[in-house]
Amino acid sequence: MSPFVMTRTLPLDATAAALRADVGEGLTRCPKEIPPKWFYDARGSELFDEITLLPEYYPTRAEREILITRAGDIAAATGARTLIELGSGSSDKTRHLLRALTALDHYVPVDVSESALTGASRTLLAEHPGLTVHALVADFQHGLALPDVPGPRLVAFLGGTIGNLRPSERRTFLSAVRAGLAPGDALLLGTDLVKDEAVLVAAYDDATGVTAAFNKNVLSVINRELGADFDPDDFDHVARWDARSEWIEMRLRARADLVAKIPALDLAVPFGRGEEMRTEISAKFRPEGVRRELAAAGLDLTHWWTDGEGRFALSLSTPAG
Ligand code: SAH
Ligand code: AVI
Repeated sequence: MSPFVMTRTLPLDATAAALRADVGEGLTRCPKEIPPKWFYDARGSELFDEITLLPEYYPTRAEREILITRAGDIAAATGARTLIELGSGSSDKTRHLLRALTALDHYVPVDVSESALTGASRTLLAEHPGLTVHALVADFQHGLALPDVPGPRLVAFLGGTIGNLRPSERRTFLSAVRAGLAPGDALLLGTDLVKDEAVLVAAYDDATGVTAAFNKNVLSVINRELGADFDPDDFDHVARWDARSEWIEMRLRARADLVAKIPALDLAVPFGRGEEMRTEISAKFRPEGVRRELAAAGLDLTHWWTDGEGRFALSLSTPAG
């Protein structure tokens, strides 16, 4: 195999159909909602990378700290020959794993964002010329078909992205990951932890407005792809802690009564002044909850590492016997 392959298991027409279905369904229900995977066109991926550098957004720094200190332990525990990374984005933190996994010969980054995969693969190939990179444009929530790659395989799901799935979606997702693991394979999971509300809200409502721009970017995606006429300035960015569900909710709140036209769906969507549309949940976890969700999917938690301030956790789990 050549050192770089890009496979698209998400045909462009299927992506367009999925966006139409999500927007049509999400904007005609009450309360309105758009799934967070539509943030990530090329601009959205760039904005997320900017978020990771914000002083308020601690998860990336905390997870990087764990990866730097624990990559050797992860390599020793897994002996992975293939690293499969779901929602890999820029793969920036992944380099700490790639350096430590001395038996590694295949890296399979999986993302809906083709621009993120292209940029990441180019950088990593330059740093690891011996590595075979098989980038996969795919939706990790829908029938993920992995290429035939050598084991042991380590599946990494970093960044706390599992928190962007609803609890029922997490159950389905973790069971599907478990079903794809063979004996000797492992899952490395990044989870952001429950903490002080003010710290959490600041991480999702930064002073310079980068997260607000990221949130509003979903409107630009809908405008471009479905010919809609949303004006991002008609909406305010909202980030709120839901203490009962233990998640941050990002919403877009209409500044005035308005009607958004979406020609591709033959739809006119009315918003009342102050009406909020949910664009993301970002669940925060407790150790016992992570262990319980993994166990329910047939995964045994074998290692639990946190950063020095206990803000974020990486766990390693293996198929239950
Ligand atoms: N893992 C990286 C990036 C996190 S951002 C980090 O830790 O910094 C979340 C990434 O997941 C984005 O690159 C986004 O495009 C991708 N993503 C979101 N939903 C997805 C889905 N359903 N299938 C595949 N990729 C998805
Ligand atoms: C990708 N995901 C884990 C991020 C999060 O923190 O939930 C997305 C994000 N949303 C706002 N800021 C960052």
